Amino acid sequence: MSMTMNEIERALRELRLSGILATLNTRILQAQANQEPFLDTFSMILQDELDRRRSCLMERRYNKSGLDERATLTDFDWRFNPKLPRQACFELHTLKFVAEGQNALLIGKPGTGKSHVAKAVAYQATLQGHDVRYLEADSVFAQYALGNSADQERQLQPLLNADLVVLDDLFLARRISDSAGELLQMLVHQYLGDNTMATTILDRLMHRSHLLEFEGKSYRLKEAATRFAQNTSISS
Ligand SMILES: Nc1ncnc2c1ncn2[C@@H]1O[C@H](COP(=O)(O)OP(=O)(O)OP(=O)(O)O)[C@@H](O)[C@H]1O
Ligand SMILES: [Mg+2]
Repeated sequence: MSMTMNEIERALRELRLSGILATLNTRILQAQANQEPFLDTFSMILQDELDRRRSCLMERRYNKSGLDERATLTDFDWRFNPKLPRQACFELHTLKFVAEGQNALLIGKPGTGKSHVAKAVAYQATLQGHDVRYLEADSVFAQYALGNSADQERQLQPLLNADLVVLDDLFLARRISDSAGELLQMLVHQYLGDNTMATTILDRLMHRSHLLEFEGKSYRLKEAATRFAQNTSISS
């Protein structure tokens, strides 16, 4: 006895095959219209489930990463600041440095795209299946300083377990607090596997690091100028 459509849908729900459930009606119509061989239909149905699972997993990884946007290098205008280290940015984007346990430091002028490139690399890493944490240094340090040692442990663990940690705006504040220094020290220590605590944090960051320098004009100013020009042309 074959199942009714309702029974099939219930079974798919019970088996948590939501990818098949979502497209089944279309696939049935398609198979009838094309008079497809069973295996063609079946493999398409399987593919729907695989696709759905992969995209759910990516969504979960993205949500966990703390990224606030899905930045890419596609929407980056390389002509705006021709001196940017374009090759090195694309090299980071291949994520070889993650696989090889290396680090990257992006330094330079405000508004030149350091955060954008870092977010694009981090987003790409989530797509490639890495466990990523994107943090704004100031807020993570402030939270860390407020917590007791159990809280601190809870905050630290996911960072130590991640494949890629992005600390944005690291040296924005002129001086980092002692607890921030301690957290940074632990992270740096974990990622660089260096036991000599005597060396400075910056030394450690530089060790096995790709250094990318961002020179040029602020894109924020260009955006502001464009908005200003639009507003004046509207009001004139
Ligand atoms: N060359 C570019 N093409 C397109 N958008 C850009 C470019 N450079 C920067 N932007 C955009 O300009 C804004 C500022 O860039 P971003 O935040 O990456 O700068 P930053 O170097 O991190 O600056 P800061 O040192 O102040 O943190 C972002 O919205 C970013 O997407
Ligand atoms: Mg930035």
